[in-house]
This record gives sequence, C-alpha cells and structure tokens, in this order.
Amino acid sequence: MKLTYYGHSCFAVEIGSTTLLFDPFITPNDLARAVDVNAVKADFILVSHGHADHLADGVNIAKRTGATVVANFEVANWFNRQGVAKTHPMNHGGTARFDFGRVKYVNAIHSSSLPDGSYGGNPGGFVIESSAGNFYYSGDTALTMDMKLIGELFRLKFAVLCVGDTFTMGVEDAIRAADMVGCSEVLGVHYDTFPPIRIDHADAVAKFKAVGKQLHLLKPGESREF
Ligand code: NI
Ligand code: MN
Repeated sequence: MKLTYYGHSCFAVEIGSTTLLFDPFITPNDLARAVDVNAVKADFILVSHGHADHLADGVNIAKRTGATVVANFEVANWFNRQGVAKTHPMNHGGTARFDFGRVKYVNAIHSSSLPDGSYGGNPGGFVIESSAGNFYYSGDTALTMDMKLIGELFRLKFAVLCVGDTFTMGVEDAIRAADMVGCSEVLGVHYDTFPPIRIDHADAVAKFKAVGKQLHLLKPGESREF
C-alpha cells in the first residue's frame, strides 16, 4: 500500500486503484505549501471527527473528485448540508463494506465540534481491512485501553498515530498505543503544525527505535510503501 502524507493528520492510502484520503487539512496548513490541493486524489474521504484541522478541505475535494465521505453520523450529515451528496455515515463499532475492503469506526477519546459550532458526534478512528493489508488510523485521541481490542481483532501492517501531545497522545503514549494494537511500523501525524504540538523529530524516532519500533515522520507531499 502506497501512503502519501499531506501534512498534519492528512494522508492518502492507495489500495489497488482506489485512493482513501484521511482528514483533509491542506490549504490552511503553512507546512503543506508544497502540496497542490487540486491534485489530491480521492475515491473515499474518511473524516475522524468534526474539528476544522481534520476537514477544512473536505468539502472542496469531495465536490471536485466525487468521493464518498465516510464519517460518523453527525459529521456525514454536516457534509450533506455543505452540498456533498455522497456520504456513508457510521458510528462506533460499525463496519462498512466497500469494493476495496472494510472500514471499522473505532473509539477515540477527544472532542468533535464542527466548524459552524454544531454537534459533531463523538470522535473516532478507523481500522481498514483489505486484501493488500490492514491498518489503523487513531484520529485525535488519548491513549485508551480500547486500543487493546484492535490488537486482538486485527493484524496490522502499520498504524497512523497522533504524536504531537497537548491535544492528543504524545510520543510516549503513542509507543504504548503501538504496543496495544500490536504494530511496530508507525506513521506519526498531528505534530509541528501549531506551536503547542511541535516535537523533536530525532528524539521521537529514537524513542520508538529503543523499543524496536519504527516511527516514520514524512514531509508533506512525501510517499512511502507499507
Ligand atoms: Ni481534534
Ligand atoms: Mn486535531
């Protein structure tokens, strides 16, 4: 699976000929200036929660690409209200089946108000299962024992975990999360975008390495095979 990082918590994963785009937040991100938002592909846009730093470009990309937005019920309805017709609403514990594989909406400990102040439901993460492999995206979350269930239920190729601290897990908690989900290949997200979430890259990578895990911190626009 080819993963492309677009800065903050936005990334795309290609499964065969299908592109899954997660948490689009590109044009407001000074660190993602190298990314051309109009060239970003998507067949599905998966949104973890209602905060603007996870969906700022979602409506425009959905309208340009015709992608289906996969999100919790309240966030999916918000996309409908912005004129995005194709949505697949979910809620915690539910699995959605698509041609590329299955999507499970899993728990996250965070908050989820929408940009217009409306209720964004409860925040989540996603587990993706496909014939090319499985992966977990935590969304914005604290470390939670619920992650143990993911380790018990799925064999993951990689995990995408928030590491920026302050609003989400920091590096130490992300290492424990990687342990709980049973995964040693981790893409770090939700760091550096704003001053309170700046991290020391070398220190973070070294902390993962010390426990036999790989933390990948990609530059916006950079891709990697998992
Ligand atoms: Ni958030
Ligand atoms: Mn966030």
